[in-house]
Amino acid sequence: MAGIFDRMRDGEQQIVAQPPAPSPAATEIARMVLRDGFEDRVPLAPKPCLGIVLGTGMGSLVRHLEDKRTVDFSEMGWLPSVTAVGHAGRLVWGNVGDHSVVMLQGRVHAYEGLPVEMLYRGVELFAALGIDRVLLTNASGGLATDLLVGEIVVLNDHIDLVRNALAAEYRTTNGGYVYDELSSSEAVRAAQVAGHRCRRGVYAYCLGPNYETRAEYRMLKTLGADVVGMSTVPEVIVARSFGMRVVAASVVTNLANSIDREDRQPLDGEDVCQTAASAGNGMWAIVQQILRKI
Ligand code: HPA
Repeated sequence: MAGIFDRMRDGEQQIVAQPPAPSPAATEIARMVLRDGFEDRVPLAPKPCLGIVLGTGMGSLVRHLEDKRTVDFSEMGWLPSVTAVGHAGRLVWGNVGDHSVVMLQGRVHAYEGLPVEMLYRGVELFAALGIDRVLLTNASGGLATDLLVGEIVVLNDHIDLVRNALAAEYRTTNGGYVYDELSSSEAVRAAQVAGHRCRRGVYAYCLGPNYETRAEYRMLKTLGADVVGMSTVPEVIVARSFGMRVVAASVVTNLANSIDREDRQPLDGEDVCQTAASAGNGMWAIVQQILRKI
């Protein structure tokens, strides 16, 4: 028995001694983005200060970038092809005023059955690019009774009900405080000032791909979650392992309560996408606020 605990303790020490390094593939792509360019696309300058994952319905935020350059994930052959509705699968970089920003238009989800490292390669690329702040966006179902469709919930914590088996170097994160408190509260205020409903809340990460049953929504609410979705948490854990400051913002696209209504329409990916897109202005206010403080 002592042997098992010794191995666990030794393993733990080994992990702590070795902070993660982005893979050679991520480093190579970062070199192309920063220095060599992709064919006709000029490299990024200056060094990017913010990485954003654009989840369901958020892809159009790339329109705010000046001097924009785009590379399809398929062209790089390392970031996984994206299949979910509303996820374009492109790396986009450009400027917002004096800041240079990198965006990933779309992500893959654990329910797609890909190897687990595919879930966070985008964040690994951010790390290879020297980025130390990320904004992760997604769509979610609203559990808390006071939420409205279209409202943005800036995460203050999460409940990880999937617990993907991440690589050893990403298992060391101190789960206590995950989300950047100051930036997150400023993000809420910025969205509110822009006229958008926005608050903090707890995100429950479920595998999907099915939306939850009524009993499951009730259970998640009892557990203390305000919203539920199928993404983001692996990226958060990896970003924290790299020491990044994380803000995560979720657009409520449907309400758990409404599932009981007689006139309820079945929920589909297109609806979720359109509703999430309606929060674009609020989300852009959050991006601007984060950049203001860099
Ligand atoms: N459940 C899980 N994921 C979601 C939902 C939901 O109700 N809505 C949008 N993404």
